[in-house]
Amino acid sequence: MRIGQMNRRQFISLLFLGTSLLIAVVQCTEQPAGDVRGKQYAARESCIQCHRGIAQNYLHNAHFNTSKELGTADATDSLGLEEGTFVFNEKTKVGIERRSGGLYQAAYVNGQNLKEERTDMVFGAGKSAYTFAYWYGNKLMQMPLNYLVPEHEWVNSPGFPSEQIYFGRAIITRCLECHSSFVQSKLISSANFQQEEEFVKNSLITGIDCQRCHGPAAEHVQFHQAHPEEKEAKYMVSYQKLSRAQKVDMCGVCHSGINLKMLNSTFFFKPGDTINNLPEYTSYTGEDPDVHGKQKQLLMASKCYKLSKLDCASCHQTHGDAIPDLAVYSQTCIQCHQTVKHPSLDEKALHLAKNNCIDCHMPIKTSKDIGFQRSASKEKFPYKQRTHRIAIY
Ligand code: HEC
Ligand code: HEC
Ligand code: HEC
Ligand code: HEC
Ligand code: HEC
Ligand code: HEC
Ligand code: HEC
Repeated sequence: MRIGQMNRRQFISLLFLGTSLLIAVVQCTEQPAGDVRGKQYAARESCIQCHRGIAQNYLHNAHFNTSKELGTADATDSLGLEEGTFVFNEKTKVGIERRSGGLYQAAYVNGQNLKEERTDMVFGAGKSAYTFAYWYGNKLMQMPLNYLVPEHEWVNSPGFPSEQIYFGRAIITRCLECHSSFVQSKLISSANFQQEEEFVKNSLITGIDCQRCHGPAAEHVQFHQAHPEEKEAKYMVSYQKLSRAQKVDMCGVCHSGINLKMLNSTFFFKPGDTINNLPEYTSYTGEDPDVHGKQKQLLMASKCYKLSKLDCASCHQTHGDAIPDLAVYSQTCIQCHQTVKHPSLDEKALHLAKNNCIDCHMPIKTSKDIGFQRSASKEKFPYKQRTHRIAIY
């Protein structure tokens, strides 16, 4: 294939969306009063009335910020993204361009702007990477490029073709099940008789909100508003009273990897539910850092977990606005491991070991599968993740 000539697939992936735009039916649904998830859910803003400290900290938490709609131009500005050009090859480039309406990704082939889309939504709280999406009728589609936050670099989205600009991958409910609080979707038959997923746009609740973890809270709010003197929580599941399996599954529902399948949407998972006993649950069969977010299985494969009462909250402050440093995490290790024998460590390593148990026993691993293609390069930027299998490496 000669570089520069637009190949057939590329042509198709650029133009397919252009034609189906004409036949896409734009649906308008009225926003129901209260919470779209149903009457058992309280208004989202109500928690702050009685849980001010938690609610305020939580505004800076990665869970809360893991997805956002970018309705206005300054919403994109707040992400600190830079304009630029991503080069697939001499003739095929993506321009990242700021316009009055927001940030656009524009496909240029032989200098001609063939397609452009506005960034309508972002995934990722800004720790390592952002993925972007645009609304295409009632479908949510992934943008061609990702952004690496610490590196300030635009990269080709993982798994996308390496020689062409791709606007054709749909963001499906499964992404939103882990990265948002709710969305209503339905399957429709597309022009080519395939099932496609459409969303009810204004049912989307971006970010992970309080009731996504704690479950529906309308009764809790009503009761406590009527009984301000009551200091003990009513109509609310207490984390402390859950079994360990239930505690870990409250996190595992999103931290067990993408292959977890449940009978009902995980949007309706509540504290007290468990995921292990479902036949569809694909259990852990070895260390697999390649799938993002498998902390549950990795932790459960650790001796620390098997031989103690450890759960996710032993080390993580779920509402916190700051990520603790490794010395703070190491204090949790030391609580259980006060006398450790390290016969093979030299003086320097022993010195390090005083404040940092993590780098040796939960090392950072590089994914073999996921990588981000860099501009004008076939080189991939590695995707790294710390393992939760605590062990001797
Ligand atoms: C009118 C006051 C009020 C409102 C509004 C309210 N709560 Fe509470 N909540 C309480 C009180 C009182 C307690 C018990 C004392 C405590 O733990 O702070 C409590 C406790 C809790 C607990 C801890 C339960 C336990 O036993 O460990 C959770 C979780 C909780 N609330 C979640 C929520 C969520 C989510 C919202 C918003 C949808 C909310 N609350 C709104 C009054 C309120
Ligand atoms: C990612 C899941 C998650 C989200 C989101 C979340 N919580 Fe919690 N929350 C927990 C866990 C886990 C605990 C128990 C922590 C512990 O006891 O160490 C907890 C405990 C609590 C408690 C009782 C303990 C305390 O610190 O007072 C309250 C009240 C509470 N949450 C309110 C909220 C409110 C309000 C929000 C939204 C602003 C919220 N939570 C969002 C997971 C979550
Ligand atoms: C609804 C899905 C969901 C649930 C439930 C959930 N998480 Fe997460 N969690 C995520 C997603 C998505 C991210 C990635 C956030 C980002 O950076 O965009 C994340 C990130 C994190 C991080 C790293 C964020 C940071 O501050 O660096 C920790 C730690 C974490 N989760 C712990 C927990 C624990 C502990 C629980 C259970 C109490 C839990 N999560 C429940 C989806 C979830
Ligand atoms: C099973 C739950 C789950 C699903 C499904 C899922 N993610 Fe994630 N995602 C996570 C968790 C958890 C993290 C936090 C990092 C980690 O543990 O890998 C994360 C991290 C990310 C990040 C990087 C955040 C950061 O800066 O570290 C992006 C971007 C992202 N996911 C986008 C997506 C997209 C797009 C989809 C759908 C194609 C998707 N995710 C599907 C759970 C999920
Ligand atoms: C709640 C208590 C608890 C916490 C917290 C804890 N561990 Fe453990 N850990 C254990 C127990 C119990 C064992 C098994 C001890 C044995 O084999 O005698 C263990 C085993 C280990 C082992 C040996 C593993 C092997 O495969 O032989 C290492 C290494 C270890 N822990 C490191 C850590 C580190 C690092 C942390 C912090 C990130 C940590 N632990 C946190 C309880 C804990
Ligand atoms: C023994 C302590 C410990 C336990 C238990 C623990 N974690 Fe972690 N977790 C850590 C440490 C340490 C880090 C790395 C923090 C860093 O690099 O800044 C981390 C990071 C994370 C991250 C960020 C992703 C990354 O690779 O940086 C997520 C998500 C997470 N933990 C989720 C969980 C979940 C879910 C559970 C329960 C299944 C859990 N953790 C249990 C210690 C723990
Ligand atoms: C420089 C790497 C390194 C650091 C840092 C480190 N360890 Fe280890 N750890 C090892 C190695 C290697 C072993 C196997 C024993 C040996 O060869 O010395 C081990 C063994 C262990 C064991 C199993 C042996 C036993 O006595 O039970 C535990 C538990 C443990 N480490 C906990 C910790 C804790 C807690 C910290 C932080 C305070 C820590 N380690 C810091 C490398 C490290």
